[in-house]
Amino acid sequence: MSWSPAQLVTEPTELLHYGRDWTTQYSPAPSAIAFPESLDEVQSIVRWANANLVALVPSGGRTGLSGGAVATNGEVVVSMERMRSILEFDGDGRTLKVQAGVTTQQVQEAASQRGLYYPVDFASRGSSQIGGNIATNAGGIKVLRYGLTRDWVAGLKVVSGAGDLLEFNRGLVKNATGYDLRHLFIGSEGTLGIVAEATLRLSDPPRRQQVILMALPSPGEIMPVFGRARRRLDLSAFEFFTDRALAHVLSMGARRPFDSCAACYVLAEFDEDEVAALELFQELVGAGLIEDAVLAQSEGQARELWRLREGITESIAARRPYKNDISVRIDQVPGFLRRAQRLFVAQYRNFEVIWFGHVGDGNLHISILPPTDRSFEAFVAECERVTHKLGQLLQEFGGSVSAEHGIGLLKRPYLQYSRTPSEIELMKQLKRVFDPAGIMNPGKLFLP
Ligand code: MLT
Ligand code: ZN
Repeated sequence: MSWSPAQLVTEPTELLHYGRDWTTQYSPAPSAIAFPESLDEVQSIVRWANANLVALVPSGGRTGLSGGAVATNGEVVVSMERMRSILEFDGDGRTLKVQAGVTTQQVQEAASQRGLYYPVDFASRGSSQIGGNIATNAGGIKVLRYGLTRDWVAGLKVVSGAGDLLEFNRGLVKNATGYDLRHLFIGSEGTLGIVAEATLRLSDPPRRQQVILMALPSPGEIMPVFGRARRRLDLSAFEFFTDRALAHVLSMGARRPFDSCAACYVLAEFDEDEVAALELFQELVGAGLIEDAVLAQSEGQARELWRLREGITESIAARRPYKNDISVRIDQVPGFLRRAQRLFVAQYRNFEVIWFGHVGDGNLHISILPPTDRSFEAFVAECERVTHKLGQLLQEFGGSVSAEHGIGLLKRPYLQYSRTPSEIELMKQLKRVFDPAGIMNPGKLFLP
C-alpha cells in the first residue's frame, strides 16, 4: 500500500496534542501528523520523508519524561496509535507478537487472559505503548525481579531511517549469528528508525504477592532495610519515597498510612510469606531501622499502598517539576544518597525537593518544584546548573544521568557524564548507518 502526504493531519489542536509528551518544558510545533495503519504504510512514510528530507518523530503514548517524543521544529509526527493489534500468541514458546501501538496494559491483559504474565509495569501502563517502551527500554516498578523491557523482547520488526524493513531475531531463544541489532534499537529513542512490531516474551504468573509499607526514621536506613528484606523475602519491588512526596499524594485524597509522620517510607512487594514478613518486621524494629509498618490485608489495601507510591508523579504534575532520573550501582546507593542530599540541600535552598524511586534497583527520581517567586525559565536555568553538578557526582560514582526516562531533549547536556566522547562518537556513527539522511528524531539524544 502506498502512502501520500494528503493523508497527513494538520489540524492545529491535533498538532498541539501529538507534538508533546509528558515533559512540560517544550512548546510543540510539528508540521503534521501521520497515522500509519500497516507496516507498508510505515515504510512508505519513511521513504517519502527520505526523498523529501522531512524530519520524523516516532510517537507512542507520549508518556515519556525527557522530551524524546516532542516535536518542536516542524517535524512530522508518526503516531503508531492505529497499529494496535495483537498479532500472534505462541503458548509453548510463551511469546506474544504485537503491533507497536498496543499499550503496556493491553499486553499485560493479553498475557493474563492466556494464563501468563508480562512483567514490565509502571504507572503509565494504560497510555504507554510497546513501541515507545522499546524505544526507551522502559523500566518501572518490577525491574528488581524481572529486568527492563530489553529483557522481554524476543524479536522486532523495524523500519530503519533509510526506509528498510528489518526483522531482528524472529522470536528465537538462541541465535548466535553475530551482532544482535535488536538491542541497538531497544533504547535508541527513535533515532535509528521506527519500531513497528515486537515479539514479547511472557513468563509464569507470579505467586500471590504481598505488600508492606514501612516507615523509616531517615533515608540512611533504606539500604540496610533493603539488604535484610532481600535476605528474608522474594522481592518483586522495593520502592521508596519521602514524607514530602507522600504529602502531595495525600493532598489528592489518599489516606495517611500511619498515625505519625516518618522521614521516609519503603514499599516492598514480595511472594506471599506472612511468617517471613513478621520475622523481618521484628528484626527491623529490633535493629531500630523502622518505626512502623503496615502489611496489606487485601488486594484493595495493597492497591491503596501502591497508590501512595505510584500517585507521586501525578500529584505534582501540575506544578511542572524539573525531574532527575538517575541510577548508581546498589552498593553505591548509601554513599551516593548522602552526597546527593548534601548537594541538593546546599544548592536548592528555596526549592521543594521530592525524593522517591525504585531504590531496590539503584534508580532514584528527584523532582524539584518551582517556587512561586521566580519565572519558570529562571527556575529551569537554576536546575540545569545544579544538574551539571549532579552529573559530575554521578560520574564520580560511575552512575547514570538517565536510568529509565531516556535522554531525549532534556538530558542531552548531561550525557557526557555517563558516556565517554568515544562512546558518543560511535553512537553517532551508528545513527548514520541506519539513518543516513538524519531524518529520524533529529536533535534527540545528542547535542547538535
Ligand atoms: C515513576 O517511577 O513514578 C516515574 O518514572 C517517575 C517520575 O515521574 O519522575
Ligand atoms: Zn520510575
